[in-house]
Amino acid sequence: MLAASPILKAQLDPFREHNRIPKLDELITALDFEPVFHAKLPRQVYNYTAYGVDGEFTLRRNRQAFDWVDLVPNVISHAATPATATELFGTKMAYPILVSPTAAHVALHPEGEAATRQGTTAASNTPMIVSNVASLPIEKIGAAATGPFWFQLYAKEDPELNRETLDRAQAAGCRAVVVTIDQQASAYEREMHDRNLTPASGRRGSTREVKPRTPYRIRDFRLFQDWKLFAELRKMVKVPLLAKGIVTAEDALLCLEHGLDGVYVSNHGGRSLDYGPSTLEVLPEIVDAVKGRVPVLFDSGVRRGSDVLKALALGASAVCLGRVPRWGLGAYGAPGVQRVLEIMQAELVQAMAATGCPSLAAIDRSLVRTDFP
Ligand SMILES: Cc1cc2nc3c(=O)[nH]c(=O)nc-3n(C[C@H](O)[C@H](O)[C@H](O)COP(=O)(O)O)c2cc1C
Repeated sequence: MLAASPILKAQLDPFREHNRIPKLDELITALDFEPVFHAKLPRQVYNYTAYGVDGEFTLRRNRQAFDWVDLVPNVISHAATPATATELFGTKMAYPILVSPTAAHVALHPEGEAATRQGTTAASNTPMIVSNVASLPIEKIGAAATGPFWFQLYAKEDPELNRETLDRAQAAGCRAVVVTIDQQASAYEREMHDRNLTPASGRRGSTREVKPRTPYRIRDFRLFQDWKLFAELRKMVKVPLLAKGIVTAEDALLCLEHGLDGVYVSNHGGRSLDYGPSTLEVLPEIVDAVKGRVPVLFDSGVRRGSDVLKALALGASAVCLGRVPRWGLGAYGAPGVQRVLEIMQAELVQAMAATGCPSLAAIDRSLVRTDFP
């Protein structure tokens, strides 16, 4: 009787029972989507999106780093209608914003990546980078909407498996391939706790079961990788090829040496190596090393239009969003993805206007003052 008591249930989970889910147009910033996402999804699904590796120092630092960058406005500079259009690898984009590859969208919404792609397409054709561990087949995601999409690969040791995956992604119409090279042996403490405390939810998709392969807890994701991999992959990829997970100038130069068409600065949203730097702190040294030879993409910690502007000022060619569109999808499906992206786009325009940037070309390092510790 006690277990069935609605009063007791409400006390155990007060957020779900007592809070009204706001309507989509009531949300003002991307950050407003996270509590709705939290309220609507099973706890371990929420946690899977939220957590970072180990003690989550780098996860926190990714956000903190934006506080260490001030914006320095040009007050009068005719920025009434900031121009945000750009082009990346031949794809025209209304804003320098993409959606980062993230896993398993069916756990967030029954329509999964198909809904994400509809939302990104509706948001002025924002390019979506489809994860290698998407819940739906790439053909289905490709056919779900008309906006541009890229494909992200987690390389396998067997080249034939990579070839098969890349052939399918390219046949489905991906316009670039991003190979994720970080997160080689990451451990998620929160995921391990969840495994012990709550059963995995089979209903809306569940997070992966954690099975350490060694007594030392090392999760052997992709420890076989080395830079020679790219010579092999280059032959399989007809579209631009990038490496994702770059956090040093040295590795950015290795990308160029190995013939890559772009560098994707990322620490996997604080999910790869704890006590690594925030990506914003390392962005300038990477941009200086690359010297404009290839585009530099950036993610990890971006939540506001002013964050996008700061990354552009420190030299990023475009900025990607990981958790933000996941919150939109989990909270409201495709319309949520669209809305959260439109909020980020509008905030970028607003931040450009407020700092006196009439166009993306006018954004440079003079726009920011950095005070990284
Ligand atoms: C829940 C989740 C799943 C992710 N899955 C992938 C993935 O499948 N492939 C990948 O390259 N990166 C993956 N990432 C990393 C994102 O591409 C991106 O680097 C990161 O989310 C950016 O940080 P942000 O969430 O603070 O924007 C994932 C991130 C999250 C939060």
